[in-house]
Amino acid sequence: MPVLVFGSVIADLVFALPQLPAPGLTVLGPGYAALPGGKGANQAVAAALDGAPTGFAGAVGEDAMAEVALAGLRGAGVDLGRLARVAAPTGCAAVCVDPAGRNQIAVGSGANLAARASQVEGGALSPATVLLLQMEVPPEENAALIRRARAAGARVVLNLAPAAAMPVEALGALDLLVANEHEAAWLAARLGCGADAAGLRAALGIDVAVTLGEAGAEAATGSSPLRVPAFPVAAVDTTGAGDAWCGVLAAALDRGWPLEAAMRRASAAAALSCTRPGAAAAMPQAAETEALLRRG
Ligand code: RIB
Repeated sequence: MPVLVFGSVIADLVFALPQLPAPGLTVLGPGYAALPGGKGANQAVAAALDGAPTGFAGAVGEDAMAEVALAGLRGAGVDLGRLARVAAPTGCAAVCVDPAGRNQIAVGSGANLAARASQVEGGALSPATVLLLQMEVPPEENAALIRRARAAGARVVLNLAPAAAMPVEALGALDLLVANEHEAAWLAARLGCGADAAGLRAALGIDVAVTLGEAGAEAATGSSPLRVPAFPVAAVDTTGAGDAWCGVLAAALDRGWPLEAAMRRASAAAALSCTRPGAAAAMPQAAETEALLRRG
């Protein structure tokens, strides 16, 4: 059973800084690294390294940055047969990271705005597919693909990151919505509901998981509420932690795991991703995640 990710692929220019910039402030750091990123690509890398056969559909330009952006996907063995090369610059992000591992990210979307749902052929969507999407490609393309995937019986998971408007009917066609607490609050304000998983589930009628950083994650489903703890680690760079969570969750769902067990594995992988620099470059191998799960 494959995991199919439709989403962004970005070259991250990562600056390790003594403090995060503020308006009007220039902050000097010793250097920078050009690393693979983009929420979609990061999630695909996480799923593949966790052991799921994984495909990616998205768009890059015909420039040198494309190879930086694609390096993580290539290294993890993700199927790139649905990748588009378009006449726009490859997406690029400035990722600033402070000594506590916190980040501030600015994204130039570039080619990601040309990602199209039509890149995913009908045959790729079936009850055997776990389709994973995020919000760094055009929302209307996400909505179109969600509708098709739903009609084909695929299992559809949307990570609402970064928060952006989606038709409520497309959200209601999901099997699972994943949001962090800020994204959950943003969506709840629009829907006029409670900002926790239960409030969002009641408003949308679908299962909802909310990641809570060091407080773990919660989910509301048709049965009893779920809560999993975070795995405490010494964080050096939290960039991509949410992507690790989503990608590994999708891989576990693809293996047929129940949601609670999948969330626990996702939380372990997210914790590990915080212990090294970069986004796609920080995604753990399945054996590392399993070792952390055994240690508890
Ligand atoms: O979630 C982290 C990612 O967000 C980074 O890799 C950056 O590219 C932005 O898309």
